[in-house]
Amino acid sequence: MNSRKTFRVAVLAGDGIGPEVMTEGLRVLETAAAKHGIPLELDHQLVGGAAIDAVGRALPPETLAACEAADAILFGSVGGPKWESLPAAEQPERAALLPLRKHFGLFANLRPAVCLPELTHASPIHPRLVEGGFDVLCVRELTGGLYFGEPKHITIRDGEECAVDTMVYKASEIRRIAKVAFEAAKGRRGVLTSIDKANVLQNGVLWRRIVTEVAQDYPEVALNHLYVDNAAMQLIKNPKSFDVVLAENLFGDILSDEMAMIAGSLGMLPSASLGAETGGGSTRFGMYEPSGGTAPDIAGKGIANPIAQILSVAMMLRFSGGFEAAASEIEGAVRSVIAAGLRTGDIHTGDNALVGTSEMGDAIVRAMA
Ligand code: IPM
Ligand code: MG
Repeated sequence: MNSRKTFRVAVLAGDGIGPEVMTEGLRVLETAAAKHGIPLELDHQLVGGAAIDAVGRALPPETLAACEAADAILFGSVGGPKWESLPAAEQPERAALLPLRKHFGLFANLRPAVCLPELTHASPIHPRLVEGGFDVLCVRELTGGLYFGEPKHITIRDGEECAVDTMVYKASEIRRIAKVAFEAAKGRRGVLTSIDKANVLQNGVLWRRIVTEVAQDYPEVALNHLYVDNAAMQLIKNPKSFDVVLAENLFGDILSDEMAMIAGSLGMLPSASLGAETGGGSTRFGMYEPSGGTAPDIAGKGIANPIAQILSVAMMLRFSGGFEAAASEIEGAVRSVIAAGLRTGDIHTGDNALVGTSEMGDAIVRAMA
């Protein structure tokens, strides 16, 4: 991207801890923009439960229009107990988050789970299993599978209620996400683990066949296949053996939470959701959000970890802005405050300094100076 062109970001903070961690993410974004001469334009919009309360729907048309006009969406999180009793189709996750992913065709969800050296004791698994580097990229398919397949409903069958979700993948959908994973593996340690349930699901059979076909174009990447149940176990048993993990939508949802915990906390895991590459230039539209949820239990207390949101800002600058220097500077600042011993509650152990959301944000902004 031409560095003088305005970089427009639709900011959708949402619910729960979303607004708190977004505040810190934006401070970091504005600091990076000022330092690197990025002409930033922010457009704050309502989404999720906050939008339901204010205007009666989770994804108001103005919000969608603002996203369409932007280069990227910076998303917080949506949902919470307050809106759980609404009809399913009106709930924040189903009526805002999933439609945004689908509307913009954001099929490639990248979730980098890294256990920083100082956080091996924050990981609930034995330090010896993560020491020396747990660094895994989860490539999750985001617009297919059980999340979106039709039919999808609760109906009456044989005189009783019956829930139906449909798992569907077209070969082309598998192929395009596999390519993303192979490309990523090429730029990393060159090991790709593809997840499926080929011993039970037709989806798994096709998934495995297509991924194996795509592998022909990537002789430099070592591909292996794991059934999803075995993968859940191997991640705990031998986490350092993984490099890139490729999974369909639901399996990726589940395994990425597991990876986040192995790395220390869901509060550290950013994500980028990208669409197809669009012709010219190396940047693409994307939505950037922490992989965790709204954490209603700690919302409003100022204790949430803002790092997943801050690292999502870095991914946004990199993939949708092409501002690599600013992105790596943010990532470096995060590493340095962790190395200096600052910890929010979720990663706090021993005698490290326990800090709140805004203190963590302050420290990261200072480390960027
Ligand atoms: C995630 C979340 C969402 C998902 C929920 C909030 C719908 O768990 O981004 O991992 O399942 O994709
Ligand atoms: Mg999830």
